[in-house]
Amino acid sequence: MNYEKLIEVAKNASKNAYIPYSSFPVGASLVTKDGKYYHGCNVENASYGLTNCAERTCMFSAYADGVRKQDIVALCVYSPKEHLVSPCGACRQVMVELLDESCPIILAYGENKSYETTVKDLFPLMFTSEDLEND
Ligand code: THU
Repeated sequence: MNYEKLIEVAKNASKNAYIPYSSFPVGASLVTKDGKYYHGCNVENASYGLTNCAERTCMFSAYADGVRKQDIVALCVYSPKEHLVSPCGACRQVMVELLDESCPIILAYGENKSYETTVKDLFPLMFTSEDLEND
């Protein structure tokens, strides 16, 4: 798949980042099988730990619209920095819950650079709902 539009949507979303504390903008996007795009940005809080990362904002937005993991083709995270920015641990755990483990994750950065990975590669030995089942 060509991720050009997906990256563009994440790039645009990063412009809405609410970042009074870090000044570190991040945008995220995902596309569904029927071609619908969702976006998110980081939304910070004076109580720093309540900050919502761009990826989580994006996945929550899609889920709030009724999208589920089997509908999602790929997710993109965009940072305008010139180095690759990879999702934090909290976002990886949420990805495990809300995306297929084989879902492509596009880490786009700078003017025109990107790196493709998957949920599984970002989070080996993941904790999932299956672990809650009785032996
Ligand atoms: N952040 C994201 O939104 N996504 C990431 O993948 C890395 C970190 C945000 C959280 C916070 O608003 C800022 O970047 C600095 O940590």
